[in-house]
Amino acid sequence: STISIIGVPMDLGQSRRGVDMGPSAMRYAGAVQRLEALGYTLHDYGDIGITRPDKQAARQSYQLKNLPQVVEANEKLATMVDQTIEKGHFPLVFGGDHSIAIGSLAGIAKHYEQLGVIWYDAHGDLNTTETSPSGNIHGMPLAVSLGFGHEELTSIAGYSPKVKPENIVIIGARSLDPGERELIREKGIHVYTMHEVDRIGMSNVIEKAVAYLSPRTDGVHVSVDLDGLDPSEAPGVGTPVIGGMTYRESHLAMEMLAEAGIITSAEFVEVNPILDEKNKTAALAVGLMGSLFGEKLK
Ligand code: ARG
Ligand code: MN
Ligand code: MN
Ligand code: MN
Repeated sequence: STISIIGVPMDLGQSRRGVDMGPSAMRYAGAVQRLEALGYTLHDYGDIGITRPDKQAARQSYQLKNLPQVVEANEKLATMVDQTIEKGHFPLVFGGDHSIAIGSLAGIAKHYEQLGVIWYDAHGDLNTTETSPSGNIHGMPLAVSLGFGHEELTSIAGYSPKVKPENIVIIGARSLDPGERELIREKGIHVYTMHEVDRIGMSNVIEKAVAYLSPRTDGVHVSVDLDGLDPSEAPGVGTPVIGGMTYRESHLAMEMLAEAGIITSAEFVEVNPILDEKNKTAALAVGLMGSLFGEKLK
């Protein structure tokens, strides 16, 4: 089968420069070769163009930072992901900050009646304009995909919502803002925080997530934010949170998802080479891709 890589050099959904180089860093770490070695055919579509905000616009204080540029890029991404699926290819998106999940999900979800989402992240990314402590759109993509947040974001690709709260599983959360907790409670979103990961172990977490999602969904997107891992193993991220998932837990998670055979699209986000140590975080991401695409099963 064929995997289509789409790079999104987006750094406008948060405030630290450098995460726009994430796609290059993951290519440099050998993503294409790693997956080709598993027998896949790879199409690398390169990076989509991101419009920079002009100085005038940047000086204005938006409640949502760089909203027009984030909307434009996500519309483009949604179209590309949509076309990839139309061709029967597996979309593999390289970020960029996590705001690009808005476009990924917008392109993917129209192809599924019950799209499942696994959100592997230290954060919930469930903020709205009202609840965001930062104005950073990378803290909002899951809320936006549920239909909550700025209308220009929720209406990307012309429909909303993209996913249902009952089809989402968050894994690794350890930094949730008050508004995010409220949304989780209100919508009954399934969250395995670090407490559950420690208490029952990653193998039980993934078993439960798969057992829950598998019968109720017709496709599952896995969104891997590298800050889900502990900063000691993934230092090249803009919003590190101590106490994260280990290298081994994360490989186990990806291997078990490969075994389950339920994943139909994926993205790896928040790799910031400027903050990294000799491309360690990009290399880690590429290793996780290897596991997700079945290295262990070969
Ligand atoms: N919750 C914080 C915010 O809304 C941090 C979000 C971090 N998100 C991420 N994708 N790294 O600003
Ligand atoms: Mn279509
Ligand atoms: Mn995060
Ligand atoms: Mn995130």
